[in-house]
Formats: sequence, C-alpha cells, structure tokens
Amino acid sequence: MSRVTPPPSRRKVIFMPETPYHRVGGEAAIRRLVSRFYELMDELPEAYAARKIHPQDLGHSGEKFVMFLSGAGRTAALCREFGHPMLRRRHLPYPIGPRERDEWLMCMPLALDETIADAELRGQLYQAMQPIAEHMLNRGEGAGGCGRGH
Ligand code: HEM
Repeated sequence: MSRVTPPPSRRKVIFMPETPYHRVGGEAAIRRLVSRFYELMDELPEAYAARKIHPQDLGHSGEKFVMFLSGAGRTAALCREFGHPMLRRRHLPYPIGPRERDEWLMCMPLALDETIADAELRGQLYQAMQPIAEHMLNRGEGAGGCGRGH
C-alpha cells in the first residue's frame, strides 16, 4: 500500500513546547528580556561604555535582538560550530573591547534574573550568549574572531 501525503489542511501540526523558545515563554518573554536588558544598559552607569557605542534610540537594536533570539536555538548551534555567520561582521562598525563586552555581560544576567522565572533556562540562555559575546570582540586582546571575517 502506498502512502499518500495528506493535503496541508489535514496534516497534523506538530507543536514542540519543549523547545527553549517555548519554555522561555515565546516572543512575549523574549521581548520582556530584551526590553529590560536595554533599559539596564541605558540606566546603569557601570554599563556606560557599552551604551555609548549603541545608537541613541535603542528601539531598533531591541527589535533586531528579539528577532535574533527568536531564532536562537538554530543560531546557537551554528555559532558553536562556525561562529555566527555575519553577526560578528555586523558588530565590526562598533568598537567592542573587553570593557564593552564585560558591561554587556553584566546587564544580561540582571535582565535574565528579572524576566525569566526558570533558573535552569536562565543559565542555559546565558551560557549560550557568553561565547557569542566573546566572539564579538573586535578591539584589544582576544579580538581575532575566527579568521574568516565572521
Ligand atoms: C560583546 C558584547 C556586545 C556588544 C557591546 C554589542 C553591541 C552591539 C551594537 C552596538 C549593536 C548595533 C546596534 C544597532 O544596530 O542598533 C549590536 C547589534 C546586535 N547585537 Fe550585539 N553586542 C554584543 C553582544 C551580542 C550578543 C552576545 C548577541 C547575541 C546573543 C548580540 C546580538 C546582536 C544583534 C542580533 C544585533 C543586530 C545586528 C543587525 O542585524 O544589525 N550582540 N550589538
């Protein structure tokens, strides 16, 4: 007996609530995280150097970051393998040295603590972002990238 692919209307929709994106609370939670993250960067004097290299209006930065994190499962796997294609290059116009990196990495766990209830997920998200932040360095020590312009 041959198997026939059902028409789209009769196909089962496979919902995977166990993905980190769903476990974290989907787009609404990502938006809360990103919004708090940039708020903290904007407010904390200790994050001044990281804030200074961002545009005056953080709205667009936030939108891009939300989009990025919404695809983060796939992206994070790629990053581990190859370094994120293009993300480092997109950061090159902004001088990111150890100070800017440290300040970015200081704001993120604060925002995570305030917006993501699940401690395990918070840890996983931070662990995924940390090496990416390292990879964004383009000034000073450790700013080599992966040598392929990524
Ligand atoms: C090392 C610390 C980092 C600093 C100082 C930094 C700084 C910046 C700056 C200045 C921009 C440009 C803002 C704009 O276009 O409005 C930017 C864009 C962006 N950043 Fe970062 N960033 C860092 C790490 C990261 C990490 C770890 C991620 C992801 C987990 C990330 C994701 C993004 C995304 C998705 C954009 C938008 C890129 C685009 O499409 O143009 N950044 N970042």
